[in-house]
Amino acid sequence: MAHITASVYTSHVPAIGAALDLDKAGEAYWQPVFAGYDYSKQWLEENRPDVIFLVYNDHATAFSLDMIPTFAIGTAAEYKVADEGWGPRPVPDVIGHPELASHIAQSVIQDDFDLTIVNKMDVDHGLTVPLSLMCGQPQAWPCPVIPFAVNVVQYPVPSGRRCFMLGQAIRKAVESFDADLKVQIWGTGGMSHQLQGPRAGLINREWDNAFLDRLIADPDGLSRLPHIDYVREAGSEGIELVMWLIARGAMADVAGGAAPTVKHRFYHVPASNTAVGHLILENN
Ligand code: DHB
Ligand code: FE
Repeated sequence: MAHITASVYTSHVPAIGAALDLDKAGEAYWQPVFAGYDYSKQWLEENRPDVIFLVYNDHATAFSLDMIPTFAIGTAAEYKVADEGWGPRPVPDVIGHPELASHIAQSVIQDDFDLTIVNKMDVDHGLTVPLSLMCGQPQAWPCPVIPFAVNVVQYPVPSGRRCFMLGQAIRKAVESFDADLKVQIWGTGGMSHQLQGPRAGLINREWDNAFLDRLIADPDGLSRLPHIDYVREAGSEGIELVMWLIARGAMADVAGGAAPTVKHRFYHVPASNTAVGHLILENN
């Protein structure tokens, strides 16, 4: 039986990818950001999964206003790194896991969540920056990755509640896959940021840290938070945080198991226009 061993949460600021790719990670501005992931890289090496189920959002890269899937699961064998305007990032292509992805699609759709099946797509900074933060600059990513794209760009976007419930369905799906696989689920995006309009640059440390507290200790209550709270408190792009509730919903305690262990917690401002938040929770 496959099972979920841990969940990882992290922001995906594109400038972090650029800092790595352009060899600026050691600069005074970036050093504290990357230092927050030193533990995480070590932890991932010691706790290497067989598959990463990576919840992220596409930023009008693979999808556009022509097609807006609310939830899209990647069932391909391989994904190319997207060109977001400056050429593709110089990072490895992403190897998928079509068998597990197809099984999850089957199980989750039969569990009443409508997923779009994606057999071909390029992956943007939403997916590659979390991999870079957690893995550094390897020749190949450490394991296959199932990309799971959530629409948080064009309204209407899914509620935190629905994301949390979807996470529970994903956990059931993983646990009914007949192979002994260790699966990590990652929730990415956030924390507070607004990239446009008069409030551009908005950062709300207090709210971000309360979100982290509640994600750990009260995910069910947190999942009931309405959209307007995210946008008002954490900025228009703060809504990316609903994706963290998918990963949190897949943890064992939500289905009556033991509470997870907080292995790592990190928060830093600024990275570009954005707050960076990061958590690692391990199932017990
Ligand atoms: C930026 C873009 C993002 O998608 C994000 O989540 C954070 C920051 C940016 O352009 O700075
Ligand atoms: Fe983003």
